[in-house]
Amino acid sequence: MDTKIVSVDPKQIDVALMRELGRLISEGQLVAFPTETVYGLGANAFSEEAVSRIFVAKGRPSDNPLIVHVSCLEEVYGVAAEVPPAAKLLFEKFSPGPITIILKKSSFIPRGVTAGLDTVAVRIPAHPVALALIRESTVPIAAPSANRSGKPSPTEAAHVIADMDGRIAAIIDGGNSSVGVESTVIDMTGECPVILRPGGITAEDIRVLLPNVQIDQHVLKSLEGHETPKSPGMKYKHYAPDAEVFVVEGKQEDVRRKTEELILEYRDKRIGVIVAGGGDYAVPLIFRVQDNRDYANKLFGFLREFDKQNIEIVFAQVCYDDSYALAVKNRLYKSAANRVFKV
Ligand code: TXA
Ligand code: MG
Repeated sequence: MDTKIVSVDPKQIDVALMRELGRLISEGQLVAFPTETVYGLGANAFSEEAVSRIFVAKGRPSDNPLIVHVSCLEEVYGVAAEVPPAAKLLFEKFSPGPITIILKKSSFIPRGVTAGLDTVAVRIPAHPVALALIRESTVPIAAPSANRSGKPSPTEAAHVIADMDGRIAAIIDGGNSSVGVESTVIDMTGECPVILRPGGITAEDIRVLLPNVQIDQHVLKSLEGHETPKSPGMKYKHYAPDAEVFVVEGKQEDVRRKTEELILEYRDKRIGVIVAGGGDYAVPLIFRVQDNRDYANKLFGFLREFDKQNIEIVFAQVCYDDSYALAVKNRLYKSAANRVFKV
């Protein structure tokens, strides 16, 4: 398939072009588009057939449900059977923005979108190009992150092109994602609100509004034993670069010492380090981050760059303890397949 690659300036959106791209969606094709979190791979959420193409293009297991993207609160009522008051509050406070809210699904949403669940994940993205695409397509857009399944999520068009060129109808380049990790997923169908995936909106942000919010136990550890995770996406291999990632977590001094020790131990390998706790290391590739927001913003790009430069072992330091720590650690632990040194 010939993939059309187009640039759209978020500050000066070409409406005629967006209409053309929106038509591809409404006609059942796949279009990758920028959002403030990561790039999405969009299809008409009302069409079972269009949605099935997403799973093929990504190589994604079909029991992992998709997020439905709409452009305003009114449209949420077209995809959800009900919006409880607390959920409405979340939409009003944090949307458009990096939050996805799980609600009871409406019968208009085909089973392929929700993988047979009776709930639906709904998000109003903040990126102007994403909003324009939804409006112009005149349908809600089902979209997972636009990476091949198992790979780090794409935060710039080049990442999407690397994974999806030739597999989908179009890729819209709208610049770099500003958040860099996926949206916070919060389940509003139970007795208490439960965060299933930490992301752009932090637990602290949500707690101000909903003091009874819980954090799902799977968030920090990968699946153990025979438990079934609530968010089906949590059980798959995720964000895995070709390099083997190790997390080194603790106080700056200890992390620095442990990193030096590990570099010595793995000296016959091509090593990369993400420096979060300071220090300088004589290895082929080093990236530095200022805090966890910066980490979240750059992590997926780093993971792709390590592979590009044939890095075999990555030591990812974790030292900062701010409100983005949960989102960063959640992604890092997964890309490290839980190889975590707590020092
Ligand atoms: O920021 C984002 O959320 C990006 C952009 C493109 O919007 N999308 C994204 O989609 O990250 P995806 O498919 O990579 O992740 C969706 C997550 C998965 O963990 C999935 O299992 C969960 O949301 N999910 C979807 N529907 C669900 C439902 N009904 N109940 C529980 N979890 C659900
Ligand atoms: Mg994903």
